[in-house]
Amino acid sequence: MQTVRNRKTSKPGATQTETVRDVATLRAKVREWRLNGESIGLIPTMGALHEGHLALVKAAMRTCDRVVATIFVNPTQFAPSEDFESYPRDEADDIAKLNALSTDLAFMPNVDEMYADGFSTSVSVSGLTEGLCGADRPHFFGGVATVVTKLLLQSLPDRAYFGEKDYQQLQVVRRMARDLDIPVSIVGVPTIREADGLAMSSRNWYLSPDERAVAPALYKTLLEIAENIDRDGPCGKAIDAGSTALAAAGFGPIDYISVCDAETLEPLERVDRPARVLAAAYLGRTRLIDNVAAG
Ligand code: PAJ
Repeated sequence: MQTVRNRKTSKPGATQTETVRDVATLRAKVREWRLNGESIGLIPTMGALHEGHLALVKAAMRTCDRVVATIFVNPTQFAPSEDFESYPRDEADDIAKLNALSTDLAFMPNVDEMYADGFSTSVSVSGLTEGLCGADRPHFFGGVATVVTKLLLQSLPDRAYFGEKDYQQLQVVRRMARDLDIPVSIVGVPTIREADGLAMSSRNWYLSPDERAVAPALYKTLLEIAENIDRDGPCGKAIDAGSTALAAAGFGPIDYISVCDAETLEPLERVDRPARVLAAAYLGRTRLIDNVAAG
């Protein structure tokens, strides 16, 4: 007899999160659920889970019968000079957090499981990936698009959840899934913030207490830019004022502050359609990114 579990009536903590490290077992579990007529939600992450990640899990819980979170610190999206080795990792804590939400499965492959010897294929999305973070981190979106394609094909979910916190990544994943006819809905989830407005991020762990005190200025500046654009029209002046404010708060270098079309991410001089204000800037050695809606 087939059993269809009703996610809405199951209690938090009622399901023990199963940890799976290989693709074959992941596929077998998903096949079993599919045969039961259950829908599947996927949340790709690099671990060090915080409330931002957990908001994606909760969004998936609301609409999917089964929820799979993946935890994989993907080496191909880090440049050699970046923080792959030191990226925060805490498997036990991540599993405890997923367990507390009754996440069905945590897929935690190692690098060899994801990238077999001689791995030589990559997915690249042109245009969308060239500006903003793509300009300063040219390796990044190729690594993301390739690993997300693999994760989607390994688990074949109905829906996959990504945060607006990484707005350019969300648009790149949407475009990639559409262009490659991957049969999945990409769902964007609003950014979860600390009480003082700082967007939650695994990299916030790197901030010293002094830097942490200054960090919310990034969000505040983006809101001011969005407000000034609404009032004044041309974006250039508002961006210059924002750049001065960020530098005065202690940020630098500033990789970019940009007002872009909300879908194509094409830079805008005037906000005459749905737009996004996006920025990336260093605070000490930590690179923070954030974005807000405009228009
Ligand atoms: P990671 O930085 O771990 O983020 C995993 C997911 O959580 C992403 O979709 C990200 O946008 C979302 N997220 C992070 N902080 C958030 C916040 N404060 N509010 C809402 N959502 C938030 O992004 C990656 O990992 C990787 O690039 C990945 C997509 C897993 C590919 O390796």
